[in-house]
Amino acid sequence: MDGCVVWFTGLSGSGKTTTASELLGLLRGAGVRAELLDGDELRKTICKDLGFSREGRLENIRRVAFVAELLARNGVVALVSAITPYREMREHARSAIGRRYIEVYVECPLEECERRDAKGLYARARKNEIERFTGISDPYDVPESPDVVIRTQDFSAADNARTVLDFLRARGWLPAHVEGCV
Ligand code: ADX
Repeated sequence: MDGCVVWFTGLSGSGKTTTASELLGLLRGAGVRAELLDGDELRKTICKDLGFSREGRLENIRRVAFVAELLARNGVVALVSAITPYREMREHARSAIGRRYIEVYVECPLEECERRDAKGLYARARKNEIERFTGISDPYDVPESPDVVIRTQDFSAADNARTVLDFLRARGWLPAHVEGCV
C-alpha cells in the first residue's frame, strides 16, 4: 500500500494538531499505519536548533518534509501539523513529496485563534514579548490551492477528521480493507 503525507497548515491555535490527532485515531483504529509529525514536538527534537526567522522556518519545513516523505515512501500515512506559513515552504513540501502530498488548510480566523490562545502566546506576542509571531508580526500566506479546507470554528475536530478521511478514501489513499469500516 502506498503511503501519503497529509500536511495540515494554519495559524497557531487553529486546530491543526487537534484535528490531526483525531484523524490519527481513526486511521489507527482501522489498522492503517499512521504517524503524526507535530511541529511543537519536532521543534523540541530534530529542529531544536532552529528559530523563527524566515530561514529557520524554511529549514524546519525542509526537515519535516524529508522525514514525512521517507515515512510515506514506506507505506505510512504521515500527518504533519506545522504552521507552514509561507507559500514558498508549501511549494517546497509539495515538490519534495510529490504526488503523495495532500495539503489541508485549517481555516480559523485570527481573532478566534487569539481568543482561544491555548498556549498564551498571542497575549505575549501582542506585548512584543515574542518576535515574528505568525499572524501578529509575521505573515501567514493563505493557501491558494489546498486539497482540503476544514473550518475549525464551525465544525468539530471529529467532523473535520472525517472530512479529511473521506477525501483520502475518495482519492484512493486508503487500503481497500478500510473501505466501509471507518
Ligand atoms: S513553522 O512556522 O516553522 O511552520 P512550527 O509549526 O514549526 O512553525 O512551530 C510553531 C509553534 O511554535 C507554535 O504553535 C508556537 O507554539 C511556537 N512558536 C514560538 N514562537 C513562534 C513564532 N514566533 N511564530 C509562530 N509560532 C511560534
